[in-house]
Amino acid sequence: MVIIKNPQQIEGIRQSSRLAAATLAYTAGFIKPGISTEKLNTIAHKYIVDHHAIPAPLNYGGFPKSICTSINNVVCHGIPSPGQILKEGNIINLDITTILNGFYGDTSATYPVGEISKTAKKLIEVTKKSLDLSIKSLKPGRILNDCVGKIIEPFVIKYGFSVVRDLGGHGVGLKFHEDPFIFHFDKKQEKIILKPGMIFTIEPMINASKNYQVVLDINDNWTIRTFDGSLSAQFEHTILITPTGFEILTSL
Ligand code: MF3
Ligand code: CO
Ligand code: CO
Repeated sequence: MVIIKNPQQIEGIRQSSRLAAATLAYTAGFIKPGISTEKLNTIAHKYIVDHHAIPAPLNYGGFPKSICTSINNVVCHGIPSPGQILKEGNIINLDITTILNGFYGDTSATYPVGEISKTAKKLIEVTKKSLDLSIKSLKPGRILNDCVGKIIEPFVIKYGFSVVRDLGGHGVGLKFHEDPFIFHFDKKQEKIILKPGMIFTIEPMINASKNYQVVLDINDNWTIRTFDGSLSAQFEHTILITPTGFEILTSL
């Protein structure tokens, strides 16, 4: 069941989403060779708590940290750790979700660590562009997958990249993950019509390879990696459908 949020809920989710965006920008400012993902986690955790909010990942389904840090071939849900040190040439996704006054905002972005390869640059650029193109197409009355999967997949495959299929976007706001599940590829499914007051994430995970398969690390039961070891990038926004189009709630 897709929830239509009321004006008071929308304002709450907007405030939380802004904080998530601010946390992401602040934390990303510390990315450099030599810093550990644990340190990035601590920085984000403190920023969120100092702004009277709670980091949603912490203890979510047993997740042990406050943010997700996913490096290179890690697709998502990487766990920050003191022994994991960023190196020149890495790419890293920071995924931040805040709970402010009970409302959730969810956003992520992928960043270069120092100088990165041409392929890594292209992957980041194309992944970001695929999200932007999808968002721009959102409008009440349109079919959700027409605006998401049917825009993102054809765009990224032109570059020899692929769309991860096992994970997707989601309704968000009153809970971390709400209906609907949002496919970032062309999916023949029950057609969901966009309506004002819907709030959901779009968060394409794009592999720098034609192989979209992923594997779960059974040692921690969280870390998801590309099957073939290729790089993967992701960008995520929390978006509101408005009477005339959309509002990116996770913008500053
Ligand atoms: N933030 C992720 C998403 O975009 C979910 C992370 S779940 C966690 O949906 F437990 F790993 F934090
Ligand atoms: Co999300
Ligand atoms: Co997220």
